[in-house]
Amino acid sequence: MSEEEMRDENLRDDYSLQGAEPRAVTDKARRQGPVARLDGTWTVLGHAEAQAVARNPQVFSSAVSRFLQLPNGLDGLEHWQFRSLIDRYLTPTIVAELNPMFIDIASETLRWGEEDVVTHQADAIELGATFSVRAMTGWLGWPQELEERLVAWVRSNNAASPEDLAQTTAVAEEFDEIIREVVEPRLADESIQDVTARLVHDTSLGRRLEFGEIVSILRNWTGGDLSSMALCIGVVVQGLAENPAVQERIHGGVSDLELEAMIDEFLRMDSPFVSNRRVATCPVTLAGQDIGEGEQVNINWTSANRDERAFSDPDAFEPYHLARNLVWGAGPHECPGRDLSMAELRAFTRALVQTWVVTPTVAGAVRATYPLGGYISVPVELTRR
Ligand code: HEM
Repeated sequence: MSEEEMRDENLRDDYSLQGAEPRAVTDKARRQGPVARLDGTWTVLGHAEAQAVARNPQVFSSAVSRFLQLPNGLDGLEHWQFRSLIDRYLTPTIVAELNPMFIDIASETLRWGEEDVVTHQADAIELGATFSVRAMTGWLGWPQELEERLVAWVRSNNAASPEDLAQTTAVAEEFDEIIREVVEPRLADESIQDVTARLVHDTSLGRRLEFGEIVSILRNWTGGDLSSMALCIGVVVQGLAENPAVQERIHGGVSDLELEAMIDEFLRMDSPFVSNRRVATCPVTLAGQDIGEGEQVNINWTSANRDERAFSDPDAFEPYHLARNLVWGAGPHECPGRDLSMAELRAFTRALVQTWVVTPTVAGAVRATYPLGGYISVPVELTRR
């Protein structure tokens, strides 16, 4: 066994992400260096290094999958063209118009009976799944009848084990089938007017999008919205339950900017969107580690957001950390859905804190394991104010 293989073997024994709570593994591994091999793959754990990789697409390409991933899997000009197409659906003006709908959906999701319901036990992940499905179907113009099927899909997607290929394939196929059922009527009937129909008839690339391209774009939007949003809500609600002072501050009235900084800070400490892949296009040295051409490199956002070199105490709740927050990525692939997600998260958080005081239950939250971060269940007690 070569020296390098022995080192990998040792690291694998000490640091395997498979089946582990990502924060526990990467917090420990990061203290040995900002770039390490975890489960035999280069993993970028440091804050500066994560940015260096994400901001250098010439060396760290996003073309990592044999499947069509628009725009995630593209580089250069092609990425720019698809990214520009997508950004036009997520502008601040469009998000501002959606705001009142998200506020209504949030208060409807968090309404149990009238004043006579004084306490209520709920699971924040379940609430998050219901809220995000309603918000997304409202945004895209999908029929309400799909709600139950989509909530069930979020549940099976979050529960699917990445090692079980049959299960993950079935979950992916079920989602593509839902997308197909929404796209086909819009292809056939030009009088349907909603965001999905706009995408179906989009000609900003100088041509109509192919069916596979529409499915890929919608899969990215909805996948990002549904699973990540439910997980983000879980992290935020758990953070609120543990921080009564933050709940009171929000209840007393805060600006959108301050609320966003608070939400972002809960997510920074415990980012549920764990990692994204890149592939090295040439030999490169990163933080003293020699990475070969063609080798896979995983940017671990959860770890980068907890790097002690950027945040002296990663577990200290300091909303002014906003400027260094990497929850939404960095560089050309930085999340185009941030504003939309934030509008949803703001609406949910305000509606929750306005009516209820959130406290943890004795049962406690159950953490998710890699490749998911955050929690799979966040049971909380809600007491009417
Ligand atoms: C809810 C929480 C969300 C989180 C934490 C999140 C996080 C991220 C991150 C870290 C990236 C960077 C990926 C990379 O560098 O490879 C990303 C990209 C992306 N996100 Fe999000 N996202 C969220 C929600 C959304 C939503 C709601 C949408 C769509 C409406 C969305 C659409 C996308 C797309 C299309 C990309 C790829 C961008 C590109 O390749 O240029 N995301 N997201």
